[in-house]
Amino acid sequence: MVVFAMGARAGLYFLLVTLTNLLQSQIQPVVALFLDKGCPLSQSYTPEIDRLRQRYASRVLFTLQANPRDYGVTITPSVVVTVNGQVRYRGRIDDRAPALGKLRPNGPTRADLQIALDEILSNQPVTIAETVAVGCAITSSTNPSTSGITYAREVAPVLNRHCVECHRPGHAGPFPLTNYDEAKPRAAAIAQATSARLMPPWKAEPQAHRFQGERRLSAAEIDTLERWVAAGAPAGNLAQAPRPPVFPDRWQLGEPHKIVSMPKPFAVPAEGPDVYHCFVIPLSLKEIRYVRAFEFRPGNRRALHHALLFIDGTGAAARRGPDYPCFGVPGFLPTASLGGWTPGFTPAPYPDGTAVTLHPGARLVLQLHYHPTGKPETDRSEVALYFGTEKPRRRMMDVALGSRTIDIPPGEANYIVRDYFTLPVDVEVTGIIPHAHYLAREMRGWAILPDSRRVPLLTILDWDFNWQQHYRYAKPFVLPEGTRFEMEFRYDNSAANPRNPFTPPQRVVWGPDSTDEMAGLHLQVIPHNNDDAQELGQALWGKIMRELGGGIFRRPE
Ligand code: HEC
Repeated sequence: MVVFAMGARAGLYFLLVTLTNLLQSQIQPVVALFLDKGCPLSQSYTPEIDRLRQRYASRVLFTLQANPRDYGVTITPSVVVTVNGQVRYRGRIDDRAPALGKLRPNGPTRADLQIALDEILSNQPVTIAETVAVGCAITSSTNPSTSGITYAREVAPVLNRHCVECHRPGHAGPFPLTNYDEAKPRAAAIAQATSARLMPPWKAEPQAHRFQGERRLSAAEIDTLERWVAAGAPAGNLAQAPRPPVFPDRWQLGEPHKIVSMPKPFAVPAEGPDVYHCFVIPLSLKEIRYVRAFEFRPGNRRALHHALLFIDGTGAAARRGPDYPCFGVPGFLPTASLGGWTPGFTPAPYPDGTAVTLHPGARLVLQLHYHPTGKPETDRSEVALYFGTEKPRRRMMDVALGSRTIDIPPGEANYIVRDYFTLPVDVEVTGIIPHAHYLAREMRGWAILPDSRRVPLLTILDWDFNWQQHYRYAKPFVLPEGTRFEMEFRYDNSAANPRNPFTPPQRVVWGPDSTDEMAGLHLQVIPHNNDDAQELGQALWGKIMRELGGGIFRRPE
């Protein structure tokens, strides 16, 4: 009797425990989060994780995990969802980044974690229980080998030469790499980003005509970093490691003649698509000025991705207001361009004898590209101008190739734009500026010399709208009269292009918006003999007339 009573109570207790467990298994999945502030992609998920926490409140437990190896996780950001210790989902949070360094311009198309949680909470099987996480490689804490390659001897020189300019406190890189303690926890991500040639950021392929500030690791340097990581990132004799380089803090070209800044700070949202915004800044000049150089100083190096500097001499930009959104193009016809800025840009004077002429009343227009970082940011950037005393003796001119008739069918993975122009005079080439939007993949520019030799001027095999820049040649060179300047751009409007702004792909035509396309390859030249400027100008005008289909001008085939 006594035995029976005890059995009944035990049975009841057992039932209760089982019921509670059952309920718990339905209502409380545990999400193990693997995040890292130093990985920009990981950091960009902060608002999304906050939103998921709120959406599920007490129904889901979110835990930050420090031991990825216990879960077999090698990439941050990653998540592992368990219910009663059983893994129900593992992988990415959503598909916003099909590959590291490649973001979908319009955000994710599948919220993998949320879908998995909804399915678990409504007692359904998870349709996609495992996805491949994309992000920064996590350094495993193996014991470093004591012989062979070390930070002090082989690795510090590579990092000092190629990384520290941006990866130091207060600069564009998301974490510093100025000493061993900073580099070691990033070792795996360093090898990953350099072997994928994502870092240092540099899009142009190597060629005979080198560029200023070219950032490219040699195969041997990449190999050094990989071997160091494979050996467990050993330190070596740190007392003998080379010191990181010292960079000037003030304006790099000395005391400027004029400094202007954005009138007020601009707020960059924590998340969402990239922001392209123009700011019109009065220069308040009393007399004519000849700009010999400019320096751009970003107010917020984490959020600001690149800047283009234009001159509005007619008031056309000012009529649009003190600032306005502007994707791709500045939204008015500029009188002149001062150039562009990207992280790591080294300011330099314009070629000898040239300058950008500013008349009283001229305004500076900054076209700025911001990249949401995961938290709200503000920026107030500054520009320094350096004036010369002399009127320019030589003329900088822009030889523009491109197309305004782009029309890419949906699904077309190999759409080609070609254009050319034959130089009617000898020119000195100082730089080249490519421009297209999200669908462009490859860009090539050549000079076909009068003796038929084909000389590459710029080759980009993985165009990224987010890393635009003005390429300046390290040594300007002469192209003789009769040289044919040619361009070929390839566009991929298929679903396989991770940067396609449309899912599914749609017809894309020429236009200034983010969902339109453009094609432009601008050669920056100075006519070798100043008297030739007019002839070059006329030939360029003739090209424009032919393209407009004007009467007697027929395009020779
Ligand atoms: C011109 C500036 C610049 C230089 C030079 C540079 N980096 Fe970066 N690095 C950045 C920026 C900016 C980011 C953040 C990218 C983003 O926000 O998407 C970054 C991100 C990274 C990341 C995180 C992975 C990623 O792509 O998000 C790693 C790792 C990295 N850099 C390593 C290096 C190493 C190693 C070098 C030198 C070999 C280097 N970087 C040189 C600017 C630079």
